[in-house]
Amino acid sequence: MSESETKKNVLLMTSGSIAAFKAASLASLLVKNDWAVQCVASEGGRRFLGDAALEGLTGRPVLTDMFERGRALDHIKLADWADIFILYPASANRITRLRAGLADDLIGALFLVNNFRKPWWIAPAMNSNMFEHPAVSDALGILEGWGCRILPTGEGRLACGTVGYGRLLEPDEVFALMEEEPG
Ligand SMILES: Cc1cc2nc3c(=O)[nH]c(=O)nc-3n(C[C@H](O)[C@H](O)[C@H](O)COP(=O)(O)O)c2cc1C
Repeated sequence: MSESETKKNVLLMTSGSIAAFKAASLASLLVKNDWAVQCVASEGGRRFLGDAALEGLTGRPVLTDMFERGRALDHIKLADWADIFILYPASANRITRLRAGLADDLIGALFLVNNFRKPWWIAPAMNSNMFEHPAVSDALGILEGWGCRILPTGEGRLACGTVGYGRLLEPDEVFALMEEEPG
């Protein structure tokens, strides 16, 4: 399918959570439903999900390095290309970094360059103590106030064995919300 035949362009950003494997399912759902998907992974995200899975599913190389030769303006070009940005999963570290406005990597730079021109969604995924920590909950409140859409987290047994909030919203639920998004 050519670029002009795809429904929308999504920038799917993964960060360092144990739930990162679910990003592959979300990418698969989006591609099967004619979305163009470009993945960006944080350094932490790459430790949990290999590039090959995401590249194989989307047909595009996973981007991480803002200073890669030949790709130095990606943070500007990708922000123009994308119709919607989703951080899935969003780690505690990533959330607090966005709240601080740090732009020392590709995800941070994209966040500032986009400056809320297009929707920026955040899907938290972490241990319930991390999720309830004021550093994280305050950051989520501020990001929401700035214009981010914070997706709900599920409650239940988490990968670390504890029970509570902080479980990543399932790929099919996120996909359904994305399909509803106007524009
Ligand atoms: C096995 C393991 C699982 C982890 N799971 C999570 C998680 O689910 N959520 C989270 O916020 N951090 C988690 N962390 C910690 C992050 O990976 C760590 O803060 C990392 O620096 C985040 O990188 P990022 O900013 O690139 O996302 C985990 C760490 C390990 C070693």
